[in-house]
Amino acid sequence: MSVWVSPEFDDHEQVCFFSDEATGLRAIVAIHSTARGPAAGGTRFKSYASDAEALDDALRLSRAMSYKSALAGLPVGGGKSVILGDPAVLKSRPLLHAFGGYIDRIGRHYATGEDVGISVADIETVNEVTPFVGGTSIGSGDPSIHTAVGVMHGLRAVLEDRFGRDDFSGVRVAVQGLGAVGWGVAERLHTAGAKLVVADIRPEQVQRAVDAFGAASTATDTIHQADVDVFAPCALGGGITERTAGEIRARAVAGAANNQLATPAAGEALAARGILFAPDYVLNAGGIISGVEATAGMPGRAEVSFPPLATSLAAIHDRLAEIFMRARSEGRTPEATAERMARELIGRAVP
Ligand code: NAI
Repeated sequence: MSVWVSPEFDDHEQVCFFSDEATGLRAIVAIHSTARGPAAGGTRFKSYASDAEALDDALRLSRAMSYKSALAGLPVGGGKSVILGDPAVLKSRPLLHAFGGYIDRIGRHYATGEDVGISVADIETVNEVTPFVGGTSIGSGDPSIHTAVGVMHGLRAVLEDRFGRDDFSGVRVAVQGLGAVGWGVAERLHTAGAKLVVADIRPEQVQRAVDAFGAASTATDTIHQADVDVFAPCALGGGITERTAGEIRARAVAGAANNQLATPAAGEALAARGILFAPDYVLNAGGIISGVEATAGMPGRAEVSFPPLATSLAAIHDRLAEIFMRARSEGRTPEATAERMARELIGRAVP
């Protein structure tokens, strides 16, 4: 396995491999860019099929963080951590402390937070040994709530662009994944009058949504084929391939999951079928927007003042609307247009 030849490498500024024999910790911290400020990005705790898959995930996620923060106008760069292994087996207080010690060693160049497999409580445990974390309950709070609010603003831009309307009443949405963000999105959609189809690998969570929202449930491997208006992936990324893009019946794909498109070709396959895709790193920026407020006070960070959080979250709507418009006028997919805009902002060559 080589970092340099990974197709996801994209000139990452720094990639660290950490291990701690006593606790079984094995972690990768990838810092893509600090051009706009110290890198920020959560920690994912997950079993991977191989070390190479874990590395690629860290690299892809950290690049997406660079794009996400740049497009959100935040004074931070992009980074991401992965801890390798099954959190149900491996996660312990000493392991989180060992991980925090390594985050502390990177110091002012990177701050982390929660992600899949890591809760706000876990991040608070990491915070016991390093100040370089965001999204604790004494800071901006659980970022997933802000992410869900931001996704709703983005979904409104999707409705306007694709369906010429801005209210959710009767709109059929398939929500894949009912975790911290997916549940928050489903709850808000239900309140706004949308009709839900849901899937999750946790049957009890699906049942909760059926009971609370009157949602219809479907299988996790076929939810993308549901007969709905919008497909909202809110589980893990990589689910939209050239094959699954051909099976989607919704007219728009817009959800919280990071890196939904397995390849750029999957995005082109959606566009060829007239399916509008909302670049995930634009739609799901609410968490990092809220978390960056917390990083502002960290050692070595510049003093920056932010607009009220609600204003920054609402701006996701306008940003997405602008990307859709530019993509159309440039004859590109929204993903390609968003990537070009982000790379210009971080001073990287535009593909
Ligand atoms: P989570 O771990 O709380 O929720 C993930 C949910 O997806 C769980 O309910 C899980 O059972 C379910 N799931 C896993 N595999 C599935 C499958 N194959 N089909 C259906 N459901 C499946 O994670 P969270 O925080 O809700 O994040 C969801 C996604 O949003 C992730 O891709 C994450 O990177 C992204 N995201 C999260 C942010 C946050 O603030 N938490 C911010 C930006 C992005």
